[in-house]
Amino acid sequence: MSVRVAMSAGSSVSVRTIFPRSITLLTAETARSSPHHLKIKKILNELGLLSAESQGLKHSITTFDKLVESDHKIYLAIDPEENDDDGEVVGFLKLGEKRLFVTDGSEPAWPANIQCVLDFYICAKYQRHGWGRHLFEHAIENEDIEPWNMAYDRPSEKLINFLAKYYRLTDVVEQPNRYVMYRDYFINTSVKYVQGR
Ligand code: ACO
Repeated sequence: MSVRVAMSAGSSVSVRTIFPRSITLLTAETARSSPHHLKIKKILNELGLLSAESQGLKHSITTFDKLVESDHKIYLAIDPEENDDDGEVVGFLKLGEKRLFVTDGSEPAWPANIQCVLDFYICAKYQRHGWGRHLFEHAIENEDIEPWNMAYDRPSEKLINFLAKYYRLTDVVEQPNRYVMYRDYFINTSVKYVQGR
């Protein structure tokens, strides 16, 4: 299933009009102030439902209302050529900073501010065609962050495979929370932690 809300009957606004670029960064401010905020709301809510459904979650963790009440960032991708160049929504990646208690497995957990992947969804017809990587790469470049430097909120098997395939992240360090973190985080940041504690 793909997201076509903005293309629904009676609507003269195309996906490309709402999102002129192939990847758009949505924040509370940009989403709220957009002249197309009602359409963006429908799209985000629908995407959130599709994401929850595909991950077997009871409730949507991504909605327009949640975005505008947070400092989260949503990177939203479109396929500009689909629907006779009117465009179609491909998927989204939601990032946000969290204060987590983390551990490298050898010491008691300590608090750290960490950039987290909170939700990630590519519409079914676009999956396994490189769109997820394209979107993820764009976001981490824009945020100037490395995949090992992030925590992943209850990652699905697909995301676990994705991170192993593209970023060689395989060595999971168990955490006292629902987030998944990789050994590289503790190796690459160990000096900082020793100094900061
Ligand atoms: N089974 C196993 N691995 C998969 C699958 C699948 N069905 N789909 C994607 N992958 C992994 C594999 O490593 C795959 O490489 P392969 O085809 O050689 O095995 C690789 O991702 C493909 O890379 P892309 O095409 O760039 O990825 P895609 O566009 O499919 O996006 C994503 C990856 C976001 C995980 C997508 O598959 C998706 O939306 N899945 C459903 C929702 C989901 O699981 N989201 C993650 C939730 S967890 C969280 O957000 C913290």
